[in-house]
Amino acid sequence: MPSPDTSAPAATEDREALLAEALGRPWYHTIEVAPGRFTDGTVDHREMTPKLLPASLAGKRCLDVGTFDGYFAFAMEERGAAEVAAVDLETFDQAEWPPRNRPRLLASGGDAEPGERFKIAARLRGSDVRRALTPIHLISPETVGGPFDHVVLSDLLLHVRDPVGALEAVRTVIAPGGRLLVAEEVNIRLSIASPRRAAAKLQTGWTDYGWWQANVAGLWQWLHQAGFRIEKRAFYTLNAKGAMKRLHVAFEVTPDPSAPQAG
Ligand SMILES: C[S@@+](CC[C@H](N)C(=O)[O-])C[C@H]1O[C@@H](n2cnc3c(N)ncnc32)[C@H](O)[C@@H]1O
Repeated sequence: MPSPDTSAPAATEDREALLAEALGRPWYHTIEVAPGRFTDGTVDHREMTPKLLPASLAGKRCLDVGTFDGYFAFAMEERGAAEVAAVDLETFDQAEWPPRNRPRLLASGGDAEPGERFKIAARLRGSDVRRALTPIHLISPETVGGPFDHVVLSDLLLHVRDPVGALEAVRTVIAPGGRLLVAEEVNIRLSIASPRRAAAKLQTGWTDYGWWQANVAGLWQWLHQAGFRIEKRAFYTLNAKGAMKRLHVAFEVTPDPSAPQAG
């Protein structure tokens, strides 16, 4: 019979192999997977994070909607959250990709499943983030739990047909007085040409995964219609490789108690 001690070296070897695998492949997010060791991400949120998240989330219940590799979920856990849940799709065929693009995108291979890298990062970080697998428009207390004090929704609205419906679903799991950070790319030309009038460009003809690219007033209007009150606004350019380096706006919002409930 092996002594109980023999499991320790095997676990270390597993960990080293997993770390080597993680560091040797491309990721969506740059994530610290061991002290001072970062994944090779297309998107690096690190520099912006102090402006997007409070320095402390001690004791808070937090939710990251559309977590992908998990950067924001892990960042909230690092800030002392009592609980972090991370929403994603179980499989990519649940995504609302434009219908004409779906067969090609699903056949193209690419990522095997939305959470594959998340699971690797969670293991390496020893994370307790809980995954909640549901499309955004089905978010509810039954599907993801809650209510949550702090919610992040970053770069997901562009992927859905009905951004207001998605935001209304998210509102059902935010605690009274809770905060939602919505960060999205915005259309610069429409924001300059029409600073006060809501507008959005339908981008199904020229992107693989996108529906709407709103101007700043358009994103504000989606949030307003979904029953949120805007508390703060910040602009930034996403630190990303290639074409994803785009202007973003981050709105920090709270549920407006006087707004009607989702119909
Ligand atoms: C562009 S990534 C954004 C990742 C991260 N939030 C960030 O800002 O870096 C979009 C994420 O949303 C998820 N997603 C796409 N459509 C979704 C939907 N209808 N419901 C829930 N999640 C969705 C994807 O699987 C992926 O995790």
